[in-house]
Amino acid sequence: MTSATYWGPDFDALRETDPEIADVILGELRRLRSGLQLIASENFTSPAVLAALGSTLSNKYAEGYPGRRYYGGCAEVDKAEEIGISRAKELFSAEHANLQPHSGASANLAAYGAFMSPGDTLLGMALPHGGHLTHGTKVSFSGKWFNAKHYGVSKQTEHIDYDEVRDLAREHQPKVIVCGGSAIPRTIDFATFREIADEVGAILIVDAAHFIGLVAGLAIPSPVPYADVVTFTTHKVLRGPRGGAIVCKAEHAKAIDKAVFPMMQGGPLMHSVAAKAVNLKECQTAEYQAYARQVIVNAQALTKGLEGEGLRAVTGGTDTHLALLDLTETGATGAEAASRCDAAAIVLNKNAIPYDPQPPSVASGVRVGSPSVTTQGMGPDEMSRIAALIGRAIRDTTGAHAAEIAAEVGDLVAAHPAYPEPRA
Ligand SMILES: Cc1ncc(COP(=O)(O)O)c(C=O)c1O
Repeated sequence: MTSATYWGPDFDALRETDPEIADVILGELRRLRSGLQLIASENFTSPAVLAALGSTLSNKYAEGYPGRRYYGGCAEVDKAEEIGISRAKELFSAEHANLQPHSGASANLAAYGAFMSPGDTLLGMALPHGGHLTHGTKVSFSGKWFNAKHYGVSKQTEHIDYDEVRDLAREHQPKVIVCGGSAIPRTIDFATFREIADEVGAILIVDAAHFIGLVAGLAIPSPVPYADVVTFTTHKVLRGPRGGAIVCKAEHAKAIDKAVFPMMQGGPLMHSVAAKAVNLKECQTAEYQAYARQVIVNAQALTKGLEGEGLRAVTGGTDTHLALLDLTETGATGAEAASRCDAAAIVLNKNAIPYDPQPPSVASGVRVGSPSVTTQGMGPDEMSRIAALIGRAIRDTTGAHAAEIAAEVGDLVAAHPAYPEPRA
């Protein structure tokens, strides 16, 4: 079927049915087009992925797996899921893949559920040191249901303290060790995590939500050969639809599939599964690999520029798509810096730094990421300009210069639009 005969998403119909929501969507598009998006976990997915997301596959109930569904009429969605699974296995050289998790948190919930029962011990990275809520924090199921223990980073180097990981693993004999997180600027030593897991007989889960796109683009080493299970989100550097996924060793395939459905989820979102398949095809191109390498080059250029503005890079730099900056020398807190940047159309987030004296709601740092600006086609020159704009915004304590900085941001993004201008 060609696009000319496809009955697909129709924005004019939405405008007619619900002008309020149509306005929200247009407003968001204008926001994306007029500001700098430096949230490390965000990106601009492609029109092809958006088309799959807005398709009639959203209608289909498909509980189960291809060829083993609880509903009829699944022949077409089966194809989408099979294509996606085989692309994921090929891209990551994985023995098994499951594209059904609705999100990264759901993928982690399923991965834990596959191996642990309530009360079992989980060893994960502490959230204030760069881990994630789902790695055993008290407010998450992972800390409420499991006996969570946490490792962190060394105070001196700010890198993961592998000796501490080993000591805690020996002491607590966890069922599962999880590594990965949401504010780790450096690559992780998966071989050492594997060694530690083997020593204590633990399952190793790598939560690659943040960096899987760099792995897909062959820009950093893959955790797949080392981990029992790799969970990830599909919407960060990877640049697919919002969602989650899991790849694992063949020996864990049954346990993972059963944990995703029926243990943790009901019917899969088949429009999203199809959109994940589209994204995984995009990831197989030389163009995507160039993008993944550029993401890192840009993150490093942005970090260097920010250091020039008096922000200290935690760990002294980055190997990935994100940097964590300590603002102590600037006199601003993370919350103040994020709100001053926001006023100047620069979107980033406040973030705790390791051993942060401030509460998380204030924080001493900010986190910046390069995926979105790289997708826009920006390079190191633009990163230097962005760093200077961030420096000016943070020093603008009264907001007197916010409009003028926002105008410069406007010039920068006009040359590299996130998406085409909406039709009138
Ligand atoms: C490391 C990590 N794991 C899991 C998640 C959860 O993903 P989601 O928000 O899709 O549930 C995130 C989200 O930021 C993350 O950074």
